[in-house]
Amino acid sequence: MSVIRSTVAGCGSYLPEKILTNNELAKTVDTSDEWIVQRTGIEQRHIAAEGEVTSDLALAAARRALEHAGRDASDIDTIILATATPDHTFPATAVTVQAGLGITHGAAFDMQAVCSGFVFALTTADAYIRSGMSKRCLVIGAETFSRILDWQDRTTCVLFGDGAGAVVVEAAEGRGSNDDRGILTSHLRSDGRHKDKLFVDGGPSATQTVGHLRMEGREVFKHAVGMITDVIEDAYEATGLTSDDLDWFIPHQANKRIIDASARKLNIPPEKVVTTVQWHGNTSAASIPLALDAAVRDGRVRRNDLLMLEAMGGGFTWGSVLLRW
Ligand code: UT7
Repeated sequence: MSVIRSTVAGCGSYLPEKILTNNELAKTVDTSDEWIVQRTGIEQRHIAAEGEVTSDLALAAARRALEHAGRDASDIDTIILATATPDHTFPATAVTVQAGLGITHGAAFDMQAVCSGFVFALTTADAYIRSGMSKRCLVIGAETFSRILDWQDRTTCVLFGDGAGAVVVEAAEGRGSNDDRGILTSHLRSDGRHKDKLFVDGGPSATQTVGHLRMEGREVFKHAVGMITDVIEDAYEATGLTSDDLDWFIPHQANKRIIDASARKLNIPPEKVVTTVQWHGNTSAASIPLALDAAVRDGRVRRNDLLMLEAMGGGFTWGSVLLRW
């Protein structure tokens, strides 16, 4: 049976130049390199320069993804940009990227699912492509979390960083089997009962301010592994595949302990896990495409490899995408 599959034609990423190490952070807030590494695995994070905004990061990642895919900006008909730190309340940061790429056709919009944003955006692109509404999408995760952190709050400011990653996703013909290249299945969930466990305490309608990120870290941690493993098991159920079939596990990079515990619970061996949290910190919607791009460019991920992407974040939102590269 012939089916439309959304295949990834290429990827790219961008990190701001400035690196902030744990030791540098420990000079301004009561923390230590030892605590941060032990509790999170994070060693450093990148911080956007003054005046460098989310769309700048997104645009750089998008250009690299287009180049890697061998496609022109004019080939793109849909841009979906996942971010919780847009340049402005409106217009969507995606339209700034669209203008930056010189695209005047098609549609561009933002997606807000915080750390799960990239998984939600990729799933949306897949739905657009499979329905025939779109032929080729640029899916971007881009964040400047440094702008919404309370730099006096050691329980949150040590965890996050800035960055962007992008993929070009396009329609291709598949046979409807697990051997097809492209997205094989995806599973999205949210549960708003948990909305106060990870949130920003400002917003245009509520306070007319931007606000700062607030998190009950222990509470988030408590739910993370169960939610992550549930949506991955949904993907296994939908396809009949198992952890044994995976070539790479590319999780959202929030905390190495969460990544390790999820992999352990799913029987995924450590050598199949792509981990970049040590270098990037938690870059929210950008973390998966940043990790993916790192593993593609260093030659780990190869054509036809089976990849499991997953994320969990504020809302709570969580989801998985199983795709063959
Ligand atoms: O991407 C979205 C999803 N977000 C996440 O996945 C984050 C999930 N949560 C976590 O990753 C972890 O809960 C944290 C890394 C945030 C915290 O680790 P934890 O092992 O849960 O530590 P804790 O919150 O239980 O805090 C332990 C102690 C506390 O001191 P007391 O009360 O035991 O005296 C904290 O005050 O560590 C203290 N602490 C710190 N100490 C040094 C908290 N932050 C720091 C810090 N430096 N930066």
